[in-house]
This record gives sequence, C-alpha cells and structure tokens, in this order.
Amino acid sequence: MMKGYGLKRCATILLMLFCAAITAHAETNKGAPENPLIEEMRLLDGVYAEIVNAVALNNPVAALEAIERLESSGLMEKTVAGVSSGAIKTPKNSDKLSDFTRFDKEFHANLALLAKAAAAKDQPRLLSFTKKLLDGCVKCHRTYRK
Ligand code: HEC
Repeated sequence: MMKGYGLKRCATILLMLFCAAITAHAETNKGAPENPLIEEMRLLDGVYAEIVNAVALNNPVAALEAIERLESSGLMEKTVAGVSSGAIKTPKNSDKLSDFTRFDKEFHANLALLAKAAAAKDQPRLLSFTKKLLDGCVKCHRTYRK
C-alpha cells in the first residue's frame, strides 16, 4: 500500500518536473527573432519613433533614454559581428557588405552625435541629426533590404 503510494507520488513529481522543464524551454525560445540584425531593427524601430516624439515635443531627456536603451541592448555589436562573420545574411546584396559596414558606422556615428545634442539639450542639432538618421535607415534598406 505505502510503497505503491510512494511510487505514484514519485511519478507525479517527476512528471511535474518534466513539465516545468518543457515550459521553461518553451519560454526561452518564445518569439525568438531570426537574427540579431532583425532584433536590432525591431528595437530601433521603437527607439526611433520615441526620438521623433522627443524632438517634436522638445523633450531631450526622452531622446537620450531611448538611445541608451538601444545601446545597452548590446545588439549593435552582435549585428556587426554577425554580418562580418557571415552568420547574418542581408536579404539583398549580401555579397557587397563593405557598404553595409560603412552605412552602419555612419548611422551609429550620427546616433552618438544625436545623443550628444540631447545631452546638451540642443534642439536644432537634435532635429538635424534625427533627419540624418532617417536618411540612414532609407539608404541602408534600399541597398540591403528586400
Ligand atoms: C546599416 C543598415 C541599416 C540601417 C542604418 C537601418 N536598417 Fe533597418 N534593416 C536593415 C536590413 C538589412 C533589414 C532587413 C533584415 C532582414 O529582413 O533580414 C532591416 C529591417 C528593418 C525592419 C524590419 C524588421 C522585421 O521585423 O523584419 C525595420 C522595422 C527596420 N529595419 C527599421 C529601421 C529603422 C527605423 C532605421 C533607422 C532609424 C533602420 N532600420 C536603419 C538594415 C538597416
């Protein structure tokens, strides 16, 4: 009697542990983006919208916070490393990556200047670099996005 009960309980606990492990595994894989470039782009999409709002409403602190969110994600470095190692393929012109690296560098340099303007609460410069960034999105997409 007691032995059977113990076995049953043991089986139940094992089943629960198994289910917990499966759930944990599913959680970590949930909505995993295809690659760091796409992950970076999705984050950048929201960050850029926040920057546009911040400039329109003259709220440089909000712009700075948005940029910091992108920088602290570590995705920019992962993208650069993935593209140069060939682990990430751009949908178009993936054999001509020298321009990608250049566009990316220009973009991030403008982002750094934007952060500087935001820190200085310099709205005219904030506006000018926000427009430059948009040029950067379009330029890179025209060449490397399908
Ligand atoms: C240096 C190149 C580069 C720059 C700069 C760039 N992108 Fe992208 N972006 C890409 C590439 C390449 C893709 C396509 C990725 C793919 O489909 O594999 C992409 C895709 C996207 C996507 C679609 C993501 C998805 O879910 O499929 C969004 C949104 C996006 N970019 C937003 C932006 C915004 C907003 C900016 C500017 C503020 C920007 N990107 C600047 C290269 C760039």
